[in-house]
Amino acid sequence: MEKNALIYVAGHTGLVGSAIVRKLRAEGYERLLLRTHAELDLTDACATEEFFQTQRPDYVFAAAGLVGGIKANSEAPADFFSVNMAIAQNVLWSAFRSGVKKLLYLGSACQYPKECAQPMKEEQLLTGLPEITNEGYALAKICACRLCSYMKRQYGANFISAIPANAYGPNDCFDPQRSHVIPALIMKYLNAKKTGAPRVELWGTGKALREFLFTDDLADGCLFLMDNYDGDETVNMGSGREISILELSKTIGRIVGYEGEIVCDPDKPDGMMRRMLDSGRINALGWRAKTDIVSGLEQVRDWYLKTNG
Ligand SMILES: NC(=O)c1ccc[n+]([C@@H]2O[C@H](COP(=O)([O-])OP(=O)(O)OC[C@H]3O[C@@H](n4cnc5c(N)ncnc54)[C@H](OP(=O)(O)O)[C@@H]3O)[C@@H](O)[C@H]2O)c1
Repeated sequence: MEKNALIYVAGHTGLVGSAIVRKLRAEGYERLLLRTHAELDLTDACATEEFFQTQRPDYVFAAAGLVGGIKANSEAPADFFSVNMAIAQNVLWSAFRSGVKKLLYLGSACQYPKECAQPMKEEQLLTGLPEITNEGYALAKICACRLCSYMKRQYGANFISAIPANAYGPNDCFDPQRSHVIPALIMKYLNAKKTGAPRVELWGTGKALREFLFTDDLADGCLFLMDNYDGDETVNMGSGREISILELSKTIGRIVGYEGEIVCDPDKPDGMMRRMLDSGRINALGWRAKTDIVSGLEQVRDWYLKTNG
């Protein structure tokens, strides 16, 4: 991307979009086009078309979407499907019609089949049904990534897509109804410290393995793909490192200063025992995540304490 290019980051107030904006600014990109959800509802086809036709961005990072946890997804599959489909349809087609040079669409690891060999390779996409609890969301994200490929194939649009691993970082959602595992654990241990709880219970055996990607690395990967990838297949973007839920809990307990005991309850469900992306393709292109999990978690803790007193 040229340093004077006009760059639209859709979803710039979110976890991922805000990290992309930070990274672009740090790299010296100054012509950023940003609209809040209230200013531009991307499910509104006319408003989206008008925005692209009048603003004419050169590059687009498509990081806007309706995102939620298992509960929200399983209660509102129609909304998660339709809103994300509408955003993808409107953004991709309006971007194409207005002559955007290149667009990166962000998918999600839940696009992979529920029963998927681990680590998950890009070739395994569309080889089975996604997890039922977030099927609506996953199907919309699958369609969006495929649409990028189809538009490239049929019209030569330079639209690419990536699947980042579970992201964590500053600006994460700490609302207990919607939060992901890392903010939920940070709040759990901060509360336990505050109340002086002697022990904290952890659901499951603690042995389940998860992969997390710090949002600064995610943003770095997005800029890397914009500059270095023109293929028509979706690309995984993971940290390449796994951590058990117990180890993650202990690390978070330690960095927030909780000194009590952490007790696993093996009668409660673990969820999938392993869920990891195979990032061989992006690694072969020359990109790797840099942030180790302790340093990433410390940055999230510091951000949370600063913004929440
Ligand atoms: N978080 C992860 O672990 C992760 C991992 C891989 C991929 N991704 C992908 O990255 C994207 C962003 O995720 P995130 O975690 O950053 O989500 P997020 O924090 O919820 O941010 C979503 C952003 O999209 C905006 N948005 C939602 N609906 C909109 C609409 N109709 N019109 C305009 N803007 C709208 C939101 O604005 P409001 O908040 O004002 O509604 C917010 O700025 C998603 O597509 C997701 O699939 C996320």
